[in-house]
Amino acid sequence: MVRVSADSLVELRKRRSAKWRTFPEDVLPLPVAEMDYPIAKPIRDVLIDMVKRSDTGYSGIAPELPQAFANYAKRNWDWTVNKDQFYLATDVGVAGVEVLRLWTQPGDKVVINTPVYLNFFTWIKEAKCEAVDVPLSHLGDEWALDLAGLEDAFAAGAKVYLLCHPHNPVGHIFTLDELEKIAELAKKYGVLVISDEIHAPLIFSGAKFIPYLNVNETARETGLCITSASKSWNLAGLKCAQIVSDDSAINDRLALLPISSAWRASLLGVWASIVAYNQGEPWLKAVLKNIDENRHYLAKLLKKHLPKAKYTVPDSTYLAWIDLSEYGQEEVTKLLLDKGRVALSNGADFGGVGKDFVRLNLATSKEIIKEAVIRMASVLED
Ligand SMILES: Cc1ncc(COP(=O)(O)O)c(C=O)c1O
Repeated sequence: MVRVSADSLVELRKRRSAKWRTFPEDVLPLPVAEMDYPIAKPIRDVLIDMVKRSDTGYSGIAPELPQAFANYAKRNWDWTVNKDQFYLATDVGVAGVEVLRLWTQPGDKVVINTPVYLNFFTWIKEAKCEAVDVPLSHLGDEWALDLAGLEDAFAAGAKVYLLCHPHNPVGHIFTLDELEKIAELAKKYGVLVISDEIHAPLIFSGAKFIPYLNVNETARETGLCITSASKSWNLAGLKCAQIVSDDSAINDRLALLPISSAWRASLLGVWASIVAYNQGEPWLKAVLKNIDENRHYLAKLLKKHLPKAKYTVPDSTYLAWIDLSEYGQEEVTKLLLDKGRVALSNGADFGGVGKDFVRLNLATSKEIIKEAVIRMASVLED
């Protein structure tokens, strides 16, 4: 059985990623969505082997990747991926922007659901489009899609719907019912659904993820998936993402992606992804066990140290979305950084109701999570 535990703070501070270099040494960094665990051994082995042999050139198209992704999708989601409609991009951000460029003209409207992954705003801007917000509704502990709002936005002429499935930062996994309705509306109004499924392998037991393209024929006719192994196996620096579709008209348009799109993915990223999809499940299972414990541990810590915080334990992702509105602080993220020396993602950057929230990364050790909460409490409770 594979066991995984987060690296110590001393080790983590030696990392060169932005998460560990952006803040001064006395700040505990929990914003960027990357993991504090050592990467899976089969992935480390393939990378070391390639580097040792100076196998660091261009990748181009490697048929092993669609095959590995298709096998993973079949095993985990019973989804038969169309391997002939499979494209590479540098990362999911580039995939999103390139697809937007193919389906929109400057000024076109793209629907999102705030609070949402902050770079959706930058992708839409990069494609010279306009974001139209249909905020998620939040009733009690449940986040849900406002289907009437979605229909209004589609009817008003939106060209694309950028779906975050599962949803960063709230961890909502869209239900079959929601996905069927999205597909129906997309077909009725001729909207393309870009389903960003980068968090899809990060699902806790008891919850079920359904890929958009596996919902029904209408979904296949209206959508495509952008994804990557980078979030679930912590490979963001290796640069490799996938674009998948299963409809010939959609594929005809995807075939217009710049030829260089595939060549801009990195060789190391392509092979790390192949190994992740083929051999990375035992490691991911062990990591999910850690994060599963952490998401509940955080609930206990908040109850004890920050009783006015509101937190819905997420069904997926390793991101905790915490409502601090009852502490009544303006710019709470800045305050926590300046006074508490703990860095969290600023909820305001996720749009909509986000301004009273912070996002905390759960893919770390219990010690770091506890220290983060204690630092937050030292500012907000004293
Ligand atoms: C929903 C979502 N999409 C895309 C990304 C970024 O992916 P990439 O680094 O491959 O561009 C993230 C990163 O956290 C994310 O949460």
